[in-house]
Amino acid sequence: MTDNQDVSLEWMSTDEEPGPQVDLRPEIPHPARMYDYYLGGKDNFPADREAAEKVLALSPLVRLSAQANRAFLQRAVRHLAELGVDRFVDIGTGIPTVGNTHETAQLVLPDARVAYLDNDPIVLVHSRALLAGAGRGTVTVRQADLREPAAILADPVVRDLLDAGQPVALLLFAVLHFIDDADDPYAIVRQLVDALPSGSYLALSHATGDFTDPAQAAKGPMVYRSATAQLSLRSKEQVQRFFDGLELLEPGLVTAPQWRPEQAPTAEDAEIAIWSGVARKP
Ligand SMILES: C[S@@+](CC[C@H](N)C(=O)[O-])C[C@H]1O[C@@H](n2cnc3c(N)ncnc32)[C@H](O)[C@@H]1O
Repeated sequence: MTDNQDVSLEWMSTDEEPGPQVDLRPEIPHPARMYDYYLGGKDNFPADREAAEKVLALSPLVRLSAQANRAFLQRAVRHLAELGVDRFVDIGTGIPTVGNTHETAQLVLPDARVAYLDNDPIVLVHSRALLAGAGRGTVTVRQADLREPAAILADPVVRDLLDAGQPVALLLFAVLHFIDDADDPYAIVRQLVDALPSGSYLALSHATGDFTDPAQAAKGPMVYRSATAQLSLRSKEQVQRFFDGLELLEPGLVTAPQWRPEQAPTAEDAEIAIWSGVARKP
């Protein structure tokens, strides 16, 4: 594929229509809508708010963590674009909000291409409405499950991004903690990273219970049991393993506000319960 216009047209034609019959299931808490609530968004229902408030009662820092995660996403994407990366595969996209991946990347590289993938049909409905017309055909939204990496890699949009042999940024922000150990998240990440051209990047963030006493930390995942995805908190060492074989960029694996901050981090920032890092594939 050499001509941008052709790429755009093909992407448009291969994009999946979620269809008008998507069941929003407002009575079941959805992690994407709970996250939207933490961020102060309006794309959520009473069941989402109720579950989110339960989590906030257990850990008031969750809201700050969500905001810090989002800010990390923007700094990481901007940094990657400044390094010249103009291809992004963003899995676990979430409901669009201010400073989405494509907006951030395209501020630096206007033709940056972004494939958004999420397994929640609700995210797709919101994304398609909010991203309609965005990015001049360089932005695609797909329904895909991170637990099925082979299907993701077989997706024509993802293949098109990977096949040129140019560096690609694989973004897994705040999504791996929804992958249970039984689904082997390490094998999933390895399979995806193996498919990236050399010089590509993996950027991820992951919720942790490292700063909470264990009994308290166990309660967060319990609230998510009633939701459509379960929460698996992981320690710094466990998150570090996702980067095996890759070269972590400075400052390494740190809490979200500590990753290349724009302002001097506070003492509280060191305990924001989101491990964050960006690494290069040699
Ligand atoms: C907390 S939001 C993160 C949004 C965005 N990446 C960010 O960091 O701001 C998590 C997203 O992951 C999605 N998700 C959860 N499990 C997933 C899976 N197995 N495959 C794909 N997406 C998943 C949810 O639907 C939700 O939109």
